[in-house]
Amino acid sequence: MSDRKPLIAGNWKMNLDHQQAIALVQKIAWTLKDVDHDYEKVEVAVFPPFTDLRTVQTLLDADKLQLRLGAQDVSKHESGAYTGEVAGAFLKKLNVEYVLIGHSERRQHHNEDDELVRDKVAACFKNKLVPVICVGETLEELEAEGAAAVPVRQLTKALEGHKDIGDFVVAYEPVWAIGTGKVATSEQAAEVAKKLRQTIGELVSAETAEQTRILYGGSVKSANVAGFLASPEVDGVLVGGASLVVDEFTGICRFQKHVSL
Ligand code: 13P
Repeated sequence: MSDRKPLIAGNWKMNLDHQQAIALVQKIAWTLKDVDHDYEKVEVAVFPPFTDLRTVQTLLDADKLQLRLGAQDVSKHESGAYTGEVAGAFLKKLNVEYVLIGHSERRQHHNEDDELVRDKVAACFKNKLVPVICVGETLEELEAEGAAAVPVRQLTKALEGHKDIGDFVVAYEPVWAIGTGKVATSEQAAEVAKKLRQTIGELVSAETAEQTRILYGGSVKSANVAGFLASPEVDGVLVGGASLVVDEFTGICRFQKHVSL
């Protein structure tokens, strides 16, 4: 087992308003408290919509909850005339630690390309936010190039040309596994994670490769999480649908109960 602390990240996508967010965060926190969850051993983060962040931050603060806070996107710009965008500095002010960058839904529906992803990663580094760089291949790409080629290419572009590289996380999410109920095999997830780690080693340093957490995402449930996290290459999961269901998400957080590490 590596020294990397597993990260269980819940991407709520465009679900739950700020009042519903309070209810879900409280239930997650209570359930994990009941089972004496050790956040030092397994980190847990939630990624609510922008409009919920202030409310969730206030709740985490007031109740001294150990859940971490993430955002689903950030502007590449610092400030100014960019209607509808949200600056990294604003997120930092809300104690946001993580930001999803280049999620396939943003690549697909908002035409985010590798260059924009790179610029958003840079905005995170500048504001001392930890980007969770999302990479993954479509079914066509899987058939044409195998599983690792596109993720490696996307990660390479995302890490190119930065003056200072801060901490980051990588999430391997095969597009065909998102919200479909189809999952990659744990062998495939481990193999791609290994190649992504090699890429980090080549582009940044061996030390960074050793320290960086690589997550798997795509139809993760409490019933299948153990398979992914049994591999030393996979350091956590990025969960969509199941992160909105208390028993499912907390079950995923307790994956060590099902895995002998
Ligand atoms: P599902 O877990 O709903 O497949 O979504 C995965 C995802 O996109 C997380 O970012």
